Amino acid sequence: MNTRAVPTVPDRRTVESAVALACRAPSLHNSQPWRWVMGTALRLYSDPDRLLPATDGFGRQMVISCGAALNHLEYAFTANHWRLVIERLPHSSDRQLLSTINFIPAPAPTDFVARMAVAIGRRRTERLPMDPPPAWADTLEQLVRITAGTGVELEDLGQRSRPALEEASRRMTGLRHDDPTYQAELRWWSGRGLFPDGVPEQARPSDRQQHSVHLSREFPPGRASTPDGGPSEDRAAILLLSTSADSRLDWLRSGEVLSAVLLACTDRGLGTCPVTHLTERAVTRTLLRELSSGEGMPQVLIRVGAGTGVGEPSTTPRRPLSEVLVRERPAPGHLPGE
Ligand SMILES: Cc1cc2nc3c(=O)[nH]c(=O)nc-3n(C[C@H](O)[C@H](O)[C@H](O)COP(=O)(O)O)c2cc1C
Repeated sequence: MNTRAVPTVPDRRTVESAVALACRAPSLHNSQPWRWVMGTALRLYSDPDRLLPATDGFGRQMVISCGAALNHLEYAFTANHWRLVIERLPHSSDRQLLSTINFIPAPAPTDFVARMAVAIGRRRTERLPMDPPPAWADTLEQLVRITAGTGVELEDLGQRSRPALEEASRRMTGLRHDDPTYQAELRWWSGRGLFPDGVPEQARPSDRQQHSVHLSREFPPGRASTPDGGPSEDRAAILLLSTSADSRLDWLRSGEVLSAVLLACTDRGLGTCPVTHLTERAVTRTLLRELSSGEGMPQVLIRVGAGTGVGEPSTTPRRPLSEVLVRERPAPGHLPGE
């Protein structure tokens, strides 16, 4: 007897709520560069209209952002009793197609998956200074376990690397001051309060605090500031994600791992911030490579720490589902799963 599970399709509400959770994923400047199409399978596409050419000319971070959404989606569906069968970069004439996702009914999720799905609603990017993460050795052990076998290397760069990283960050910020195209793009994606994308004022450090985290991308000043008694100097742990090559599959996988790491830290009550400006120019990417003990291609740095506002939900908006999720008409003779 054939006992293989038969793929089927979840009902409309399940798909919509899982995709809505997936769209809570982090993305470069909150560009949300994804499109979902639901037909007999669910398909994830990158959206080239949301590429940031001056910051991310090759679309590397666009694909990383989509990878983060894919991992969010997986936790959201698995917590809802569906196992995903994901084909990454399926053969297609459409270069934007990143994944085809099929579904198999599954038993109750593990406690870990259920907690990751809950963490989606609590994760946010913390740009203010953070204290060192408590119980770090234990957290690091869990993060290494989560990344094992993914093709993405996770390394704790340690505080010894901080002076070199902060110096590189200062140089990069200086270079970018002289780049009007980059600055125009950054302004466009900052503080456009009228639209549900970009990095809003309340998520950007105030003028006073802009320079208290030396290892960070400089944004136009906003309204976020550490309350009295909060950390004034950043002592967050610094993680590096790298891959052996620099292919689109490496980027997609990096995004998936980035998401899993951020959610696991959130679940432990830690604050997180992806940091990528140092990966955007060859000179600083090479420096990251030199600071790392491995040989891989640096994809994303992540600050992880403890802070006063950690655990509060993100105030950074998302686009409505109707803009990012399309339902295909079922082919004649096909019975939709609802
Ligand atoms: C590929 C990628 C690169 C990012 N780079 C940075 C960065 O350099 N600096 C930063 O403060 N946030 C960075 N972020 C975080 C986004 O700005 C953030 O996810 C987005 O604004 C949505 O806000 P939220 O994470 O609070 O939901 C990055 C996120 C991704 C996925």
